[in-house]
Amino acid sequence: MRIEETIESVRELVASARGAGKTVGLVPTMGALHRGHMSLIKAAVGRCDFVVVSIFVNPTQFGLAEDLDKYPMDIAADSKLCSDVGVDLIFAPSAREIYPEENIKWVTVEGLTENLCGRSRPEHFRGVTTVCAKLFDIVKPDIAFFGQKDAQQAIVIKRMVCDLNLPLKIEVCPTVREADGLALSSRNQYLTTDERKDAPLLYGALKECQKAAFTGVTDTGELIAIMKNIIGGSAAIEIDYIHIVNTETLRDVPAITEKALIAVAAILGKTRLIDNLLIDLNNPPADV
Ligand code: PAJ
Repeated sequence: MRIEETIESVRELVASARGAGKTVGLVPTMGALHRGHMSLIKAAVGRCDFVVVSIFVNPTQFGLAEDLDKYPMDIAADSKLCSDVGVDLIFAPSAREIYPEENIKWVTVEGLTENLCGRSRPEHFRGVTTVCAKLFDIVKPDIAFFGQKDAQQAIVIKRMVCDLNLPLKIEVCPTVREADGLALSSRNQYLTTDERKDAPLLYGALKECQKAAFTGVTDTGELIAIMKNIIGGSAAIEIDYIHIVNTETLRDVPAITEKALIAVAAILGKTRLIDNLLIDLNNPPADV
């Protein structure tokens, strides 16, 4: 496995893999890899001949008051995890390599980025779409892998690829969770012991909402009230938002008619966590 820091060397290595007839997979990450990231990486290794994992804590997607400076980093541990599962190349550029000048050209997706996380993180998604557009151009993958954990991000990226006619597929992999339901996240390590105990309430609330929807409660207001009630069981959790939205437009819906995305964001102490569940009333999950 190679670890490269420059765009030029990544372009050369990918070109030679392509020259050998290999398909190319890309998993964009910000490092501090956990089982959630690894599920994407394993999917990429299973599907593509040459797999690139990018590790780049992208400054443009963090707000001024956010955790850019303390974002966890462990390139040695990440490299070991990647080489153990058969990754071919880690691309770990500096911020200067990706943004040689102060960035004044942005790739933005309108309409899908104002609701949900866009409300409290107004410039977040243009940072994500801009860096992903750069990574797609550098690596030119056949398939790029994203997690359902960041549902809005996956939908926004899919739309960017579609609208810009980019020649790659976006594969969205299921959310990987701890045994108690908490979605894995690099930010979970910021939680105190008490906050960690309460954090699974987010998934608990999503599951109850899902259960209620399948037993006939489809009014969004009622469903959100059920979730608020459960999360309100912890004084440590401050709800940032709970939205039930159309899976394509990400606009709030008054009731669930068929498919919907239930999304929650909450703050525990200094840590912001997000989670979501997709509901398809025509396809009840086994555990409802
Ligand atoms: P990061 O938070 O490191 O996540 C990288 C990828 O891993 C994302 O596609 C995310 O959805 C996925 N992921 C994270 N936790 C997961 C979990 N518990 N189960 C399944 N997948 C999970 O998302 C980013 O980085 C950045 O915004 C990035 C796309 C790299 C652009 O900078």
